[in-house]
Amino acid sequence: MQVVKWISELRTILDSEKSEGKTIGFVPTMGALHPGHISLVEKAGQHTDFVVVSIFVNPTQFNDKEDLKRYPRDLNKDLTLLGSTACQLVFAPEVEEVYPEPDTRRFNFGMLETVMEGKHRPGHFNGVAQVVCKLFGMVQPDKAFFGLKDFQQLIIIKALVKQLTLPVEIVPCEIVREADGLAMSSRNMLLDADQRKNAVHISQTLLEARNKTREMSVKELCKWVITRIDGNEYLKTEYFEIVDDERLQPVKSWNEPVNKVGCIAVHCGKIRLIDNIVFNEIDK
Ligand code: PAF
Repeated sequence: MQVVKWISELRTILDSEKSEGKTIGFVPTMGALHPGHISLVEKAGQHTDFVVVSIFVNPTQFNDKEDLKRYPRDLNKDLTLLGSTACQLVFAPEVEEVYPEPDTRRFNFGMLETVMEGKHRPGHFNGVAQVVCKLFGMVQPDKAFFGLKDFQQLIIIKALVKQLTLPVEIVPCEIVREADGLAMSSRNMLLDADQRKNAVHISQTLLEARNKTREMSVKELCKWVITRIDGNEYLKTEYFEIVDDERLQPVKSWNEPVNKVGCIAVHCGKIRLIDNIVFNEIDK
């Protein structure tokens, strides 16, 4: 596995791999890797010939400076983890390499970015779009792999690719969970022991909610989820919404002919966790 920090080195290696006709798989990350990331890398290895992982904590997607400061970073640990996976090349640039000058681009994702994460983290998806666009330009992958845990991010990146007609296929990958059900996240490592024990209440509540669609309306169920999570002294729900899986707009009735996803953001002390669960899927 090679590790590079300059775009020029990245391009030299990738040009050579591409000249041999290899397809490039790309897994963008912000480091603090966990088995969820590793599952993306392994999937990339199954679907492409040469796998690139980027490790870059992107400042433009943090609307909260404290969150950026707190974000866990351990490059050596990440490299050790990646060493035994399908990853062949790690791109770990400094901020100045990615942003030699401020990125002033403004993207417009319409209704996709005015709900949930977009509503509660203003500017977040613009920053994600900026960095993903830059990284796609640098790596020029055939396929890029994104986790379904960041469901809204995945939909926005698909929209970005469509808007800019980028020649890359976006491959969604299943959420990986801890043994007790907590969705894996780099932020989990910031939880103290008590917070970690109680954080499992989020996924447990979502699972229970999935069995209640016959006894409650959408509105009642949303209220039930929030009340139940907030009943735990360690947790405070920021939002829980049941939305359709394409336009991300709140659904009003279980009868609507759309796939429904329940998306949640919860504060556990200073740590913000997100998760989601698919409700009844329809045949489209
Ligand atoms: O999902 C993430 O880790 C980040 O948002 C991404 C896609 C690597 C962009 O910085």
